[in-house]
Amino acid sequence: MQLAIANVLSAEEAAEVRAALANVRFLDGRATAGFAAREVKDNRQADSLDRNVKTIQQTTGDRIAANELFALAARPKQITPVVFSKYEPGMRYGSHVDDALMRGMRSDVSFTLFLSPMESYEGGELVIETASGEDAIKLEAGYMVVYPATTLHRVNEVTRGERLAAVGWVRSFIRDAAKRELLFDLDTARKRLFARDGKSEDYDLLSKSSANLLRMWAED
Ligand code: NI
Repeated sequence: MQLAIANVLSAEEAAEVRAALANVRFLDGRATAGFAAREVKDNRQADSLDRNVKTIQQTTGDRIAANELFALAARPKQITPVVFSKYEPGMRYGSHVDDALMRGMRSDVSFTLFLSPMESYEGGELVIETASGEDAIKLEAGYMVVYPATTLHRVNEVTRGERLAAVGWVRSFIRDAAKRELLFDLDTARKRLFARDGKSEDYDLLSKSSANLLRMWAED
């Protein structure tokens, strides 16, 4: 399951992050790619040793972690610090799979928080390869897509303007994407039922199933 989440940051907050990124050091993204991904990776990444980067990493990471839909879709046990990436015209990131282990943390879920206004650049779609074809994703500044880290994906070449994004990875309590989706659907239905009818016997049974499936599957 991949999920687009609106307004993780407001348009103003996304603009503030862009303004902060205008004053930090960016490095060649190849430095953090595995040997095969290095062949296809052509972007820039904010230098995480830069003190100003640490500050926006923290504030952006806090907003992501606090987002309810994100928590429901990803079931995070641990989240990496975000990496700020920049694509200028001609830059792209060809098809690759993300590393399974990130400094010893298993990556189950990947996310991309779009930071540049959609109309300010051309190209730069995140393309996720699924069994039923390819999904090209480009979202408003402040919107985020969450998808299984197990997929092959790429970033199309940017042909005009600049594409800024924050990307990161999650170690999930629920390793399997199908199980995460099942729990997401069940919890969403449960919450809708509560909103419609309040606390009912049906709501209680769904809550019991949801909680006990989580107990059955969670790797804590
Ligand atoms: Ni990737």
